[in-house]
Amino acid sequence: MQIVNTVSELRNAVRAWRSAGQSVALVPTMGNLHAGHLALVNEAKEKAERVVVSIFVNPTQFGVGEDFETYPRTEREDHEKLNAFGTDLLFQPAVSEVYASDAKTLVSVTGLSEWYCGASRPGHFGGVATVVCKLFNMVQPDVALFGLKDFQQLTVIRTMVRDLNIPVEIVGVETVREASGLAMSSRNSYLTAEEKAVAEKLYQCLCVARDAVLAGQQSYEEIERRALLFLQDSGFQPDYFSVCRMSDLKKAGADDVALVLLTAARLGKTRLIDNVCFSR
Ligand code: PAF
Repeated sequence: MQIVNTVSELRNAVRAWRSAGQSVALVPTMGNLHAGHLALVNEAKEKAERVVVSIFVNPTQFGVGEDFETYPRTEREDHEKLNAFGTDLLFQPAVSEVYASDAKTLVSVTGLSEWYCGASRPGHFGGVATVVCKLFNMVQPDVALFGLKDFQQLTVIRTMVRDLNIPVEIVGVETVREASGLAMSSRNSYLTAEEKAVAEKLYQCLCVARDAVLAGQQSYEEIERRALLFLQDSGFQPDYFSVCRMSDLKKAGADDVALVLLTAARLGKTRLIDNVCFSR
């Protein structure tokens, strides 16, 4: 695996592949890689001849008082995993390589970025959209892969790609879960053993709510209210629980068929998010 830190080294490698007629997939990450990230790399290998993974803990998507400084950085282990999974190139830039000190341009996907996670993390999706747009411009991949676990993020990125005519195919990859159902996340490492036992209830709550929709429960407000109560009673501080339509994440109505249940809840100092997608 080639490891590069600068955009010009990255572009030289990609240019050489392109002149050999090879296609390129990009898997953007912030490192601290787990089975969920490695599933993205595996899928990337199916989709293109060359796989680029980026590791960049992006400061612009963290708010004041969030965990940018303490976000788990596990460089050596990440390199070993990516090597073992057949990554062709790791792009691991410094902040100064990605952002000019006087950068003035931000990508903003309006509306969508202000709901759900965007309401409790103002500016977060602007930071995500900006860095992903920049990574697309740096790598110019044919295809880019993101986890379905961050469903709102995926929707923001799909919307940005559509609105800005960015020539890249976006692929969402199934969430990888622990045996308990807990969605894999780098932030799970913040959980204590006791909290981990509670954390799995987030997915259980989503499954119960999905089953209620599938069983014909008419009132989505009632489903949301019950889910929030269950989470509170289980020891979470729920942020939101919403029955949404899958296409644009607006609140689902009676006629919507493709749905996603989105939730975020705090457990101690850890903020967990998860979702289930289904059709009724
Ligand atoms: O999902 C993530 O790890 C990050 O938000 C991403 C997409 C790599 C952008 O920094």
